[in-house]
Amino acid sequence: MGLEILGCTVDPVLVAAYIVVSVVILWLVRKWSDGGWCYSKARLDGKTIIITGANTGIGKETARDFAKRGARVILACRDLAKAEAAVTEIYKETGSNNLVVRKLDLASLASIRAFAEKIKAEETRLDILVNNAGIMMCPEWKTEDGFEMQFGVNHLGHFLLTNLLLDLIKSSSPSRIVNVASLAHIWGKMHWDDLMMRSGYDALLSYGQSKLANILFSKELSKRLAGSGVSVYSLHPGSVSTELTRYFNHGLKFPLRYIFSIITSAPIRMLVFKSAVQGAQTSIYCSVTEELKEVTGMYYSDCAEVKPNRLAQDEESGRRLWEVSAELVGLEKKME
Ligand SMILES: NC(=O)c1ccc[n+]([C@@H]2O[C@H](COP(=O)([O-])OP(=O)(O)OC[C@H]3O[C@@H](n4cnc5c(N)ncnc54)[C@H](OP(=O)(O)O)[C@@H]3O)[C@@H](O)[C@H]2O)c1
Repeated sequence: MGLEILGCTVDPVLVAAYIVVSVVILWLVRKWSDGGWCYSKARLDGKTIIITGANTGIGKETARDFAKRGARVILACRDLAKAEAAVTEIYKETGSNNLVVRKLDLASLASIRAFAEKIKAEETRLDILVNNAGIMMCPEWKTEDGFEMQFGVNHLGHFLLTNLLLDLIKSSSPSRIVNVASLAHIWGKMHWDDLMMRSGYDALLSYGQSKLANILFSKELSKRLAGSGVSVYSLHPGSVSTELTRYFNHGLKFPLRYIFSIITSAPIRMLVFKSAVQGAQTSIYCSVTEELKEVTGMYYSDCAEVKPNRLAQDEESGRRLWEVSAELVGLEKKME
């Protein structure tokens, strides 16, 4: 006896087999999308950690994990109300009284300098700095200091912040600096003659450039810190369901806007995107894994070392980016 579907008679066994195979395939795709997991049980009691952009998404889950491991966690955020809400949430789950909120707007050099001064005045050590905050594919906005927003926040802001905190990080060695980059670095190249992309802004290419800069900066920093006991890592967290897509509708033009709205639609997110907890795993892995203590300058994805693309491995670009960035943010020579 057959089943009537849309006027056709079909074998019920075939229908059942089709449903089972589809469910298994969807389940396998979902499992594959979960990505790598940090299994380290390392405790962080007595350690102080700063995470930028820790009020939501990957940063908040990284903060939650570190709080569970006993660390003093400083949430460096531009919106204090959102940061306090994150602290309340993490406190309820972990019972940690060692969560601190400090104001940091990476789109303002003055804010970064004020933040660093406060940290140096208040903290006696800094064991791990996680440069996590980011902005993706926004319209052609400028930072307070006139830098293109994505390059300014994602790269220049973290470049200055890291340099200002470097003495404290060095004096706390063995210590770590973790830079959250992205696979999107493959869309980017360094526009050396027009880093702010004034002659033809493109939200996608600018994001790619800023994430390429994250990886170049990590490698160059690791070379400059050789022998200091400070390890530097950069990473791709995966495709993660967070608020990062919030500016797509304003920043992207047709047809990219429609392509990205499909790629980031709810069904696709459910099927192939990581949760924020899963997305935080590689940041946590680079921050706590004992075996990585002696490793520096490498790039990670799914809790494993991988190679970034060719442009991201170019040492001359790393050196040049450092010099240009130092000039742009007004870094004093003695800090380099
Ligand atoms: N999600 C992904 O699929 C994915 C993939 C590859 C790489 N990444 C990278 O992962 C990192 C975290 O992103 P996410 O996915 O967790 O995104 P998210 O949910 O949008 O979180 C971004 C965080 O950065 C903060 N931020 C933005 N501009 C800032 C500024 N000027 N000063 C200080 N903080 C600022 C945000 O603060 P507000 O809430 O106040 O805006 C927020 O806390 C980013 O570096 C991103 O490029 C993410």
